[in-house]
Amino acid sequence: MLRELEKEEMFLTCPKTKKSNDVCLVGAVRISNTSFFVYKNSEGKVALKSGKEEKLQKAAVQRMIDLNPSVLQILNRYKIKPVIDTKVLKELSGGHMNATCNVAMGVYALLPQKLKSLVDEEVVKEAAMLHDLGKVLIPSKIINKPAKLNTKEREIMNIHSTLGYELLKTQNIRKEILDLVKYHHQNLKRSGYPNLENTNLSDIGVQIVSIADKYSALRETRVYRRKLSRIESLLILYKEVLEGKIHKDVYYALVDFAEKFDN
Ligand SMILES: [Fe+2]
Ligand SMILES: [Fe+2]
Repeated sequence: MLRELEKEEMFLTCPKTKKSNDVCLVGAVRISNTSFFVYKNSEGKVALKSGKEEKLQKAAVQRMIDLNPSVLQILNRYKIKPVIDTKVLKELSGGHMNATCNVAMGVYALLPQKLKSLVDEEVVKEAAMLHDLGKVLIPSKIINKPAKLNTKEREIMNIHSTLGYELLKTQNIRKEILDLVKYHHQNLKRSGYPNLENTNLSDIGVQIVSIADKYSALRETRVYRRKLSRIESLLILYKEVLEGKIHKDVYYALVDFAEKFDN
């Protein structure tokens, strides 16, 4: 993505004469440990926007909703109003998407070569950055509930990966990335969500994004729990190796990464 960007004329602020709905999300990029959403306008100019630039982010997500009726259909099914939570967007792009991407890249780099060759590094990197975009449409009273979610709330929370997929589907994002966004809560036993119909999906790609997502989430403070230590987080994930949900080589690449870079 970066190499591609270098060739493009870049602008860092949206031209005032242009309406924000001319802007289309084409991916995400990480520069010097900060994540940016990458947009292109109708003239082909590129904009890099961090989570702090709420107005454009909100307009871009609104456009994604307008372009794909499936988004509203899903929300209607759960009686959720299409409200874009910019606070969630800001938090995601400022913290969790960065952290997930760092871990995913570390795990990828430390995988045995035979597994590494099965996945595309760029696909994993962008999917890690975009994986939770759907959370911007999950009601904040569920996202920020300082207690365990009940069954109904859990059901609503679990649609965020499908919502993220549907939001990004009309944008200029590669299908492999879209699939990883949709299935980042799947596991090796295929007992996660949503149901996996696509048998061609790379399990290793899902495994990398999923383990990076889980590990970085455990290492972050949540409204309902404290930040867990490196060992506590690795032990929780080791249980999932024993349950057949996490590939052991992906897990050991994570342990290697955590020991070297997460002190
Ligand atoms: Fe997620
Ligand atoms: Fe996540």
